Amino acid sequence: MARTGRKIKLKPLIRHTVIKKRVQAVARQITRDFRGQRVHLIGVLKGSCIFLADLVREIDLETSIDFIAVSSYARGKESSGQVRLLKDLDSSIAGLNVILVEDILDTGLTLNYLLRVLSQRKPKTLRVAALLDKPSRRIKKIRTDYVGFRIPNEFVVGYGLDYAERYRNLKDVCILQMPPDEASAARPLRQAIRSRGVS
Ligand code: PRP
Repeated sequence: MARTGRKIKLKPLIRHTVIKKRVQAVARQITRDFRGQRVHLIGVLKGSCIFLADLVREIDLETSIDFIAVSSYARGKESSGQVRLLKDLDSSIAGLNVILVEDILDTGLTLNYLLRVLSQRKPKTLRVAALLDKPSRRIKKIRTDYVGFRIPNEFVVGYGLDYAERYRNLKDVCILQMPPDEASAARPLRQAIRSRGVS
């Protein structure tokens, strides 16, 4: 188990070798589903960037990519369910086979908002690829088309996922653990956990 500063521990949950195989399998499925067509991947910033980069290189079709960014809803407070667009797409998605790419599906509030916004723009198809799915925290029902891994209700970092912008570069998806007596250090973690992690 890796140790970081301030006694934060990182316990590997999904190793990068396992992630790689699963991403390849998801890409094969997408390639089969859209044979002969182009797919347009939309990454939800920032967490999806590494998953998207690996996924798109395994898809054996014509592809294009774009990115979108949304506000974090009610960070550190009870969730209001409000999501706001921070960065819109660069181009139209009308008539395209769109795959919305997420690192993690948690409460579903983000995807619920994005699916509503993007479906109004008349894509030919609109699907969701999420590397991680944490169904125990769901508030909004979301239909996922491609899921990498279903995970338990733990706060995870790595492979794009962060804690206070750290750990996105870890190759493995890891559970972030902090001893309960680390009161001062734990405060930001508890905030992050309330907004994206553990009930
Ligand atoms: C995370 C993740 C999803 C969202 C999922 O983003 O990347 O976009 O939360 O949570 P939900 O299902 O409860 O809505 P975050 O706000 O942590 O930003 P980041 O991608 O920049 O890390």
